[in-house]
Amino acid sequence: MKQDGLVRLLESMTMDEKINQLIQLAATFYSEDSKENTGPIREVGLTEENVWNAGSILGQSGAAESIKIQRKYMEKHRLGVPVLFMADVIHGFRTIFPIPLALGCSWDLEMAEKVAEISAREASVSGVHVVFSPMADLVRDPRWGRVMESTGEDPLLNSFFATAFVKGYQGKDPGKEPERVAACVKHYAGYGAVSGGREYNTVNMSERQLRESYLSAYHAAIEAGVKVVMTSFNTVDGIPATGNAWLLRRLLREEQKFEGIIISDWGAVEELTVHAVAKDRKEAALLALKAGVDIEMMTSCYAHHLEELAAEEPSLETLLDQAVMRVLKLKNDLGLFEDPFRGADPEKEERIVLCQEHRQVAREAALKSIVLLKNDGILPVKEGVQVAVIGPGAASKDILGAWSWQGRTQEAVSMIEGAKKIDPKILTGSEPFDYIAPSAKAVSEAVQLAERSEVVILALGEPAWMSGEAASRSDIRLPESQLEFFRKVRKINKNVIVVLYNGRPLDLQGINDANGIVEAWFPGTEGGHALAEVLWGKFNPCGRLCMSFPEQAGQLPIYYNADNTGRPAGISAEPKYISKYLDVANEAKYAFGFGLSYSEFHYGQLVLDKNVLASDGRISATIEVENRSKADGLETVQLYIRDLVGEVVRPIKELKDFRRLALPAGQKCKVTFTIEESMLRYFHSDQSFTSDAGEFDVMIGPDSANLTTQRFRLIK
Ligand code: GLC
Repeated sequence: MKQDGLVRLLESMTMDEKINQLIQLAATFYSEDSKENTGPIREVGLTEENVWNAGSILGQSGAAESIKIQRKYMEKHRLGVPVLFMADVIHGFRTIFPIPLALGCSWDLEMAEKVAEISAREASVSGVHVVFSPMADLVRDPRWGRVMESTGEDPLLNSFFATAFVKGYQGKDPGKEPERVAACVKHYAGYGAVSGGREYNTVNMSERQLRESYLSAYHAAIEAGVKVVMTSFNTVDGIPATGNAWLLRRLLREEQKFEGIIISDWGAVEELTVHAVAKDRKEAALLALKAGVDIEMMTSCYAHHLEELAAEEPSLETLLDQAVMRVLKLKNDLGLFEDPFRGADPEKEERIVLCQEHRQVAREAALKSIVLLKNDGILPVKEGVQVAVIGPGAASKDILGAWSWQGRTQEAVSMIEGAKKIDPKILTGSEPFDYIAPSAKAVSEAVQLAERSEVVILALGEPAWMSGEAASRSDIRLPESQLEFFRKVRKINKNVIVVLYNGRPLDLQGINDANGIVEAWFPGTEGGHALAEVLWGKFNPCGRLCMSFPEQAGQLPIYYNADNTGRPAGISAEPKYISKYLDVANEAKYAFGFGLSYSEFHYGQLVLDKNVLASDGRISATIEVENRSKADGLETVQLYIRDLVGEVVRPIKELKDFRRLALPAGQKCKVTFTIEESMLRYFHSDQSFTSDAGEFDVMIGPDSANLTTQRFRLIK
């Protein structure tokens, strides 16, 4: 429909019809077989008329059912405006890929785009129009359960991934290309910085810090053309994001030029009364509308109060019309006026959802997301060795993660199923082995298997419910029962490989002396196949951490790009008056960017073609990487920069580029990065984003803790 058609449609709408377009309700209001709720269901007090005129539905999928609901909806809608179906497709629809925190460890942006493209394809033929992804929250505290949905602690890497996901979901134009969906970047803004890692807690940070570290990935998604932005539950400088006009109108609309839809998170409009910045639901509706929220998800402040508010303050009707126009525009951009059933196709759904091609990509994504944290030579498992695969994760199909929605655990490949494909003689238990409280029988059976084996693969970690939304943990160690089990096995078998299923970096005290530690995260539908290929050396692990592992929770928040402080540890012989703990080191157990492989990569000298950089100039930084092993491998060569003196304190290092380098056994290769002035810009105290003349260190290496350094000067 042309723009003037939309304007005429808007003009023909009654106030009720306009307001209804701004309501989003869960599928449970429309479909008997939808049991899915991703937030508290309070009485929303809406009429049948509201329900069948609501502008969008959350969490509906299934081609036939979606067509049925849309048909009924269109029959009931006086003006024939179609409904939008939005859903949480976070890392796959039915074919589930590794959780985003795992995909972030692949550093493979093409893979991420492919994952999003397949997710969009399956979601679209199942009737979904908009997906609530990418989650672009920067995270530094693994006590927060939603780190599993993020791609980690670095602003640049998060920006690259957010861009890749948006491109994969939307293609060039989701309204014109088949099997694409509109994407929604979330949660705007700064949700990953909840105090204490406690879910839904307060966020406190300066505007400069927000801009410097937390906003870039959301803004990258906007530059990539994301159609929707979701507001976060948390406060931003004392005002909840959902009622924060500075954040939504000033920063998002005016500064970032975002013209798409702003949707609240579940119930966040009504929660303005609980944050106590609105005395009642009417004031909450006023605050949210003025702040810029277009769609109210799953509460009814708009439905119950916008008409009255507009009568009291006529200027509000302009804001209301603008919000409704953005909703109508997205429906129009997606072609729903021409074809309300666009995308939903039961025949295609049957044919392509969870098809072999998609499973193969899921397997590749899992292979690239697995991170080898420790290996004393026990890995890869040698041919002919008697192996036992035991522990709570061994037979588990609970490996899809907390946001796998339409994913079905029964369709997942367990570690044992994957391992048996490679070594049918592995020893496995038959007793169910609980993650938290395994039976004595299960433990005893497993210990006996360990006794009869040369190598034990111990599958430990978290059940999926221990991470994701509303799943913060104050103690991020493995459950005590697993540590006790590990000690028992270790006592009788000196060849132990621990494989971890988890949704967050853990405190690995108690299993650190395993011979090998493999971080599998929640690897998705094909997890068992991928793990077996890594463990038995059919695939050389290449994952690199996108989030630091602490020694223990007491160090949190911990992140590689920290400030120097005035008394950094190690600054001098001074042993006491320095920034440190009495009882634990400052350093991460496993640093950002870290990961081992079966190859052995060596780095040569870092050479700069010049040491002075003019504003319009370039420096080439070259380093030789050699694979001194017999195993072809893939190394992620990382480039960091440190601004030695800033107008504000600057991080001791910042990731500025990286190269995924496939290097055959025995080969060496020179890798050259280009350094430009634009890489040196940062937010000053006046919020200007510029660089300063002065000295910089450029550092290159395999991870953020092992780097070779050279110095250069920027002149302006
Ligand atoms: C949840 C989550 C959000 C999700 C939304 C819809 O509360 O915070 O990420 O997209 O509700 O399910």
